[in-house]
Amino acid sequence: MPPRAFRIVVIAAAFLAGLLAAMAVVVLVVGPNRGVVSTGIASVGGPFRLLDHNGRSMTEADLKGRPFLVFFGFTHCPDVCPTKLFEVSEVLGKLGPEAKKISALFVTVDPERDTPEKMKEYLSSFNPQLVGLTGDLDAIAAMAKAYRVYFKKMPLEAGGYTMDHTAIVYLMNKNGEFVAPFNLNRSPEQAAADLRRYL
Ligand code: NI
Repeated sequence: MPPRAFRIVVIAAAFLAGLLAAMAVVVLVVGPNRGVVSTGIASVGGPFRLLDHNGRSMTEADLKGRPFLVFFGFTHCPDVCPTKLFEVSEVLGKLGPEAKKISALFVTVDPERDTPEKMKEYLSSFNPQLVGLTGDLDAIAAMAKAYRVYFKKMPLEAGGYTMDHTAIVYLMNKNGEFVAPFNLNRSPEQAAADLRRYL
C-alpha cells in the first residue's frame, strides 16, 4: 500500500476502535438490561486538572451539577475540529439562555502549540460558551486516556506536524458520567432539544 493509503487505513482503524469502545459502553449502560448494568458508566471520563483558555485551573469539580459536551482536537486542525466547533456552537446558540447551564469543552491534543492564549484567540470565532482546555502533555494524555481518545503527532513532508485524533463529541451528565457520543448529524434544534433533557 502507498504510505498515504496506509495512513488513512490506520486512522480509520483507530477511529473505529474508539467508536466501538464508545458504543460498547453505550450498550453496556443503556441496554438490554437497563437499570441492572451500571458498571460501564465510569468507563469514559474521569478527573482532570487543566488550564482553561483564560489560564485558570479547571478540574472535573468545576463541572459538578452541569451536563457537558467534551471533545478533543487542536487549533491547527484543517477541517474536522473547526467543523465540530461550528456545529457545537450552533447547538449552544439554539439553547439560548439555557446554554449557560451546560458546558462545552474543547481539549487540545497539541499543548505544545495550543497555549491558553492561542486557545482563547482561536475560540473567539465560535460560541463564547465554549471552554478551551490545555496543560502539560502528561495531563492531556491522562484525560485523553480517560475518554478513550487516541491522538498522535504526525510529521508533515513540508515540515512541521499535524495531529491525528479521535473526533467523537462526548455527552456527559450532571454527575460527570458518560451518556453517549453526541449526535451532531441532525438539526441544531433537535440536538439542543436532546441536550435539554440532561439539564
Ligand atoms: Ni481535528
